[in-house]
Amino acid sequence: MESPFKSDILHGKVALITGGGSGIGFEISTQYGKHGASVAIMGRRKAVLDSAVSALQSLGIPAVGFEGDVRKQEDAKRVVESTVKHFGRLDILVNAAAGNFLVSAEDLSPNGFRTVMDIDTVGTFTMCHEALNYLKKGGKGRSSSNGGMILNISATLHYTAAWYQIHVSAAKAAVDALARNLALEWGADYDIRVNGIAPGPISDTPGMSKLVPDEIESKAREYMPLYKLGDKWDIAMAALYLASDAGKYVNGATLVVDGGLWLSRPRHLSKEAVKQLSRAVEKRSRDAPVGVPKRSKL
Ligand SMILES: NC(=O)c1ccc[n+]([C@@H]2O[C@H](COP(=O)([O-])OP(=O)(O)OC[C@H]3O[C@@H](n4cnc5c(N)ncnc54)[C@H](OP(=O)(O)O)[C@@H]3O)[C@@H](O)[C@H]2O)c1
Repeated sequence: MESPFKSDILHGKVALITGGGSGIGFEISTQYGKHGASVAIMGRRKAVLDSAVSALQSLGIPAVGFEGDVRKQEDAKRVVESTVKHFGRLDILVNAAAGNFLVSAEDLSPNGFRTVMDIDTVGTFTMCHEALNYLKKGGKGRSSSNGGMILNISATLHYTAAWYQIHVSAAKAAVDALARNLALEWGADYDIRVNGIAPGPISDTPGMSKLVPDEIESKAREYMPLYKLGDKWDIAMAALYLASDAGKYVNGATLVVDGGLWLSRPRHLSKEAVKQLSRAVEKRSRDAPVGVPKRSKL
């Protein structure tokens, strides 16, 4: 689908995207690049990074890949520094790297729980922390009045509760807290905006194929308010809005892009059944004898 945004809205910006080699992170990298940004992507698998970088470069996007694990502070530091060395500055950090798998709470080992917290939450904080010096106003390549921006890719699981996702729910709840607190502290001190996007189920992503296998995907669609999954493009468009000047007053927000799914409940009655039922209830209450209230003795 064509982007509704002008192709230069991120002209001259440099973005570092963790998890930028695949899925939603790759689509954000592509759309940022198509709208004028230079793009650095980070992940653990070299082959994934290499093919993503070639795909970005074939679109004419200045792109580079850096291997690294967001759980390791030395990797975070090295990748942020390499990005600035390569492109001269850093304007946008997107934290899309995450781990996920389906498991019941009783079968999840504390170690498994910790791993997801380490990648999603501690990893996000570590990347933000290492990027601070470059994103803050007056940072390398920046003016003394304009800071950069951070975007965390979250989820909606923790708004209610999610089966077999206790680890990710906890991790993403904390990721949202990071966005709000950093927005407050770093917005005030350094002019850095910090926001999040909470995607619903997005088709054609590694996350979706792991968590909602084909066998149950078509059934799942029936419960969704818009009767469809989201596209990676939907998330990338929200990411463009938040990174561009159009989002310059948005800070500390997590934008839900889920087609209204987290609000939804299974429909127990059809619309026709509801009409019939309320007619019957109305009729019953009209026909019921009206009780005469007893006079008070006071
Ligand atoms: N897909 C959905 O429907 C959906 C819904 C809600 C939220 N989300 C969120 O959207 C984001 C992207 O999800 P996706 O489904 O598109 O999955 P994905 O492509 O598998 O995203 C994970 C990416 O993060 C990288 N990564 C994982 N652990 C890392 C680590 N320790 N250090 C550095 N990089 C690491 C992976 O590369 P390596 O393995 O090579 O490191 C991979 O590129 C995630 O934050 C996810 O929670 C997705």
